[in-house]
Amino acid sequence: MAKRQLTALATAVLAADAAAQTPLTRYDFVNLATVMIAAYSLSFILYRQGKITVRAHRRVWNILLLFTFTVCAALGVLLLLRINYGIVVSLPLDMLYWHVEAGIAMTVISVFHILWHLQYFKSAFMKAPEKITKGRKGR
Ligand code: HEM
Repeated sequence: MAKRQLTALATAVLAADAAAQTPLTRYDFVNLATVMIAAYSLSFILYRQGKITVRAHRRVWNILLLFTFTVCAALGVLLLLRINYGIVVSLPLDMLYWHVEAGIAMTVISVFHILWHLQYFKSAFMKAPEKITKGRKGR
């Protein structure tokens, strides 16, 4: 095959590859989630070994939850204003990309957060019907 044909073929393959991959690889999900889980595990181990207090462990993750929520929600609302009302607030970053990345980080941290409070949710969901029944009986 001539060199020019090979180059054209390589270009076409790369273009097809890029076209096929773009929608799937636009956002970094697996790497970000893995880093978050690894960092959380490290923080959890340090707290269990008594190297950091439970307060410090929770404070770090609560602050990260607040930060990722703020970035995700603020960019989400800016995108919404642009799409719905044509109000354009320009920032020197890819707002959709960072909205989604902050959303992913927030979602992963929210899972940790829900796991801390699992007991609360268990009793909230398990005890409520009992209370309702008791209330009805009392009437
Ligand atoms: C905090 C509240 C949130 C608000 C107000 C919000 C708002 C928005 C808006 C306005 C868009 C653009 C829709 C469009 O292009 O038509 C969007 C897209 C998107 N959001 Fe959110 N969002 C929120 C939370 C999240 C969370 C937690 C995630 C989780 C990862 C997330 C993931 C996405 C994704 C994947 C898209 C589509 C991106 C694309 O089209 O390439 N959002 N969001």
